[in-house]
Amino acid sequence: MKILYWSLIVLMMLYLTTGKKRRHKGTQWWSLAKTGEPSNDLDSPAAHATHIYTSPTLLPLTKKQRRLVTKNPGTIVAIAKGARMAVDECQYQFKDRRWNCPIQELGHGKNLFGKIIEKGCRETAFIYAITSAAVAHSVARACADGSIYTCTCNYNLRQPNGVDWEWGGCSDNANFGKKFSRKFVDVAEKGRDFRYMMNLHNNEAGRRHVKREMERECKCHGMSGSCTIKTCWMRLPLFRQVGNILKDRFDGASRVLPGNEGSNDSEGNNNGGRRGKKKLRLEPADPNHKRPDKRDLVYFEESPNFCDKDDSIGFLGTSGRECNATSIGIDGCDLMCCGRGYKSETYTVRERCSCTFHWCCEVKCKVCTRTKIRHTCY
Ligand SMILES: *[C@@H]1O[C@H](CO)[C@@H](O)[C@H](O)[C@H]1NC(C)=O
Ligand SMILES: *[C@@H]1O[C@H](CO)[C@@H](O)[C@H](O)[C@H]1NC(C)=O
Repeated sequence: MKILYWSLIVLMMLYLTTGKKRRHKGTQWWSLAKTGEPSNDLDSPAAHATHIYTSPTLLPLTKKQRRLVTKNPGTIVAIAKGARMAVDECQYQFKDRRWNCPIQELGHGKNLFGKIIEKGCRETAFIYAITSAAVAHSVARACADGSIYTCTCNYNLRQPNGVDWEWGGCSDNANFGKKFSRKFVDVAEKGRDFRYMMNLHNNEAGRRHVKREMERECKCHGMSGSCTIKTCWMRLPLFRQVGNILKDRFDGASRVLPGNEGSNDSEGNNNGGRRGKKKLRLEPADPNHKRPDKRDLVYFEESPNFCDKDDSIGFLGTSGRECNATSIGIDGCDLMCCGRGYKSETYTVRERCSCTFHWCCEVKCKVCTRTKIRHTCY
C-alpha cells in the first residue's frame, strides 16, 4: 500500500513538472501498469467530481480519458489491470527474442515501453494491439463481475438454444469492452498521418481478436449433477490465448505503405467517423501481397536488429541476456548474441529430492545439490 502511495506521488510530480510535454500523452495510461491497484474510492460516485483533476491515478490520462473513466465508475481499476496484463503478456510472448518487451523507468514524459513506440515496426504494432486488447478484455470481464457501474453481463446474446442446453447465466460483455477500449485507447491517436493510421489499425486488430475468441461455457444443473438442465453463456478467452494469436499475427504482420487517398470507403472506417474527408489507406508494400485485413497487424518500417545498445529506441542490446546453447532458434546463443559469443557459468541449485511418504501424513525429502549451466551473451 505504501509503495502504491509513493509511486502515485512520484507519478504526480512527474506529470506536474513535465506537464507541457504532451508527447504520446494519450498512451501514458500504460504507466498504470506500474502503480498497482488504483484506489477504489475513485469509484464512489460522490468522489468523482473532486477526483477528476486531482487524483494521481488519473494524471496519466488525457482530459477525454478522464471524463470517460469518471462517467464509467469502476473502469479505472479494469484499465490498470489491463495495462498490467498487457505488459506481462508482451514479456511472456517475447521472452525468447532479442527484443523482450522491456519496460522503462518512468520519468520526464517517458513512455512505459520506451521510444520503440515512436517507430513504425512490428514491435510497435504488437504493443498497440496487445494494450488495446487488454483494455477490451479487462473491461468486458469487469462488466460481468459487476464492478463497473455502467455495464452488466451481456444478456443479449440471443442465439437459438441448443438441443440439450439453453442460454442463461452471465456472459462477458465483449461489446461494451470493445466499445470502451475504442473510446479510451484510440483518443491517443490524433492527427491524420500514416503513423496514426497504423496505430489505430493495430488497436482495432487487438480488440477484434478478443471478441472473436469468445467461447460457450456451460454448467449442468439437476439432481446430483445429472445434467437434466444445462445453461450456457459466452466467456472471454484467457488473455494468454489472445497473446498467442497476436504473436502469430506479429510473425505474419503486413508491411504497408500509404495508399492513394481513396473515395472508396467500403472497407469501413477506423478513423472515428471522420466522414466525407479524404483519408489515407493502407496498401501492402509488396503489390503481390493481399491487403491486410482488420485482424492483421501492420507496420511500415523494418525492425532494428536489436543486437546492440540503441539509444534511438532506448534498447540496451542483448549483452548479458541468457541464451540456449543448443537451440538453433532466436533464443539460441548464436542468434541471441548476434555472433559476439557467450560465456558459460556453472552454478548449483539445492532441490528437494527422494521424497517419501510416511504414514500418516508426512512427506520427507532429502536435499540434493545439482549443477546447472547458464549461458549469457557477451
Ligand atoms: C472502388 O472499388 C471498386 C471495387 O473495389 C472499383 O471497381 C472502383 O474502381 C473503385 N473506385 C475508386 C474511385 O477507387
Ligand atoms: C534449449 O533448446 C533445446 C532445443 O531447442 C530445447 O530442447 C531445450 O529445452 C532448451 N533449453 C531450455 C533451458 O530452454
